[in-house]
Amino acid sequence: MTDETSLYYRLGGLETVKFLAKTLVQRAMLNPTIGHVWDNRTQQEVQDEIAGFVEFLGEHWGGPHTYTGPDMATAHRGMGITEEYWTALFDEIVTPAYAEFNLPEREAKEIDDFLRSFKPVVVGSPSFKDVIKDHPDMDIMAGMESVGVHWPAASAAVGS
Ligand code: HEM
Repeated sequence: MTDETSLYYRLGGLETVKFLAKTLVQRAMLNPTIGHVWDNRTQQEVQDEIAGFVEFLGEHWGGPHTYTGPDMATAHRGMGITEEYWTALFDEIVTPAYAEFNLPEREAKEIDDFLRSFKPVVVGSPSFKDVIKDHPDMDIMAGMESVGVHWPAASAAVGS
């Protein structure tokens, strides 16, 4: 839906969504608990990630966007994101941003509910490198599922 009452337009449209995406990713990169995830990412990869995040949020929040990237399970499979990382993301980055940027309670709650809904397909995947270490003979191109590591469990699947 692209009507003017969608979250996207209530937030102020593209400029606000871009600002949020850019700021959250930058703060995640600088965070002591999760920043290492981006240690060896190139400029282009980070810029593409932010651009994809904008499209993703824009589409889901009712803006004129089409997200063409991978679904959230695929985007995070093998990244090794733990509960600790998740807690750091929300407690140290996302939640403080609502007050800092003066987001009204209604919009802050909608954003929070939305982002948190992806927890089952973001948290808990083993790191792909660890899977390979545990299964040195595995065919990398056949993926972790080829050695019986299925993530997420089918019951945890949520939308893309
Ligand atoms: C601690 C938690 C998280 C970490 C460390 C993390 C990290 C990352 C990284 C490094 C990428 C880039 C993957 C690549 O370029 O191949 C990525 C992609 C992505 N993440 Fe997360 N993420 C987290 C949580 C979330 C949450 C809660 C959302 C909200 C739904 C989200 C949305 C996305 C999207 C949309 C992409 C794909 C962008 C694209 O490829 O177009 N992430 N994430």
